[in-house]
Amino acid sequence: MKNFVTVDDVAVPGLSLSPSIDLMIEKALAYKQDPWKDLGLGRRRRVGIVFLNPSLRTRMSTQIAAEQLGMRSIVFNIGSEGWSWELEDGSVMNGTSVEHIKDAVPVLSTYFDVLAIRTFPGLKDRAADYAETVLDSFIKYATVPVISLESATLHPLQSFADLITIKELQLTKPKVVLCWAPHIKPLPQCVANSFVQWTSAWDHAELVITHPEGYELAPEIVQNTPVIYDRREALEQADIIYVKNWSAYNDYGTMPPVSRDWMLGEDDMAITNNARVMHCLPVRRNIELSDAILDGQHSIVTQQAGNRVWSAQAVLAEILKSNYGAD
Ligand code: CP
Repeated sequence: MKNFVTVDDVAVPGLSLSPSIDLMIEKALAYKQDPWKDLGLGRRRRVGIVFLNPSLRTRMSTQIAAEQLGMRSIVFNIGSEGWSWELEDGSVMNGTSVEHIKDAVPVLSTYFDVLAIRTFPGLKDRAADYAETVLDSFIKYATVPVISLESATLHPLQSFADLITIKELQLTKPKVVLCWAPHIKPLPQCVANSFVQWTSAWDHAELVITHPEGYELAPEIVQNTPVIYDRREALEQADIIYVKNWSAYNDYGTMPPVSRDWMLGEDDMAITNNARVMHCLPVRRNIELSDAILDGQHSIVTQQAGNRVWSAQAVLAEILKSNYGAD
């Protein structure tokens, strides 16, 4: 694994993607059983964790994962504390940008053995966001491996943790419904995009997507996954409901009006197969999900967020092994 920015990066040569994901889940669960078993792997190695945007889970879990591999980590909240980056090649930097990314990232590469970065989309220009300009520039100018901590369009560490969580439920081919929820402001499509990619690539779940008309995800993400606009029909006999808001992909970054209440209710839960409810967090209570569901027996959001440590540790370990070998 040279970099970790998409599900394809977990592919093991000679294996198709689903068993490659299974192998990564096994490695992550082995760390959950014995967090310190590879304490020597990251000895004398350092990861630079760069945030252009806020975080609780990703930041903490990545630092904990590094520590459990014996690796030093330094967090830089560059979005709030650092020089603002210019991305455009050949630009005359007479505006607000202070440093070009092509100058900053090579410097970071001399300080660290692995770099990790979080960036969000602007949600104004779909082509620019889906071109992944920040992440791709970061990779282009880095001379060390790069891990995505969420990019403009994908959140692979989250999805990996999501599949670990589903695996732990020990269900046989569960029906998993990715269910759109309301929000007060436009959010990225990253979590939904990644969840569809990972779950579709994995042979152990049957994925259905439900959302109001106008909230279609990118066709190259959805591919053959069934999309059912009638939420009740989609939720019937669901084993797992993954609740998430996202803004429109077609009328990009907007929030088309929705005619009915899309917040999951107890009446919806009644038609499921005693479904577990997932959400990547942070969640807006009583907007995206009710107190009753979040605080009730169906919710597994804390277990899901806890698994962020093990997904991060498995990825960091693979990056270290592939790029630096054993200590
Ligand atoms: N789910 C997630 O990525 O959480 P943070 O934004 O807190 O890192």
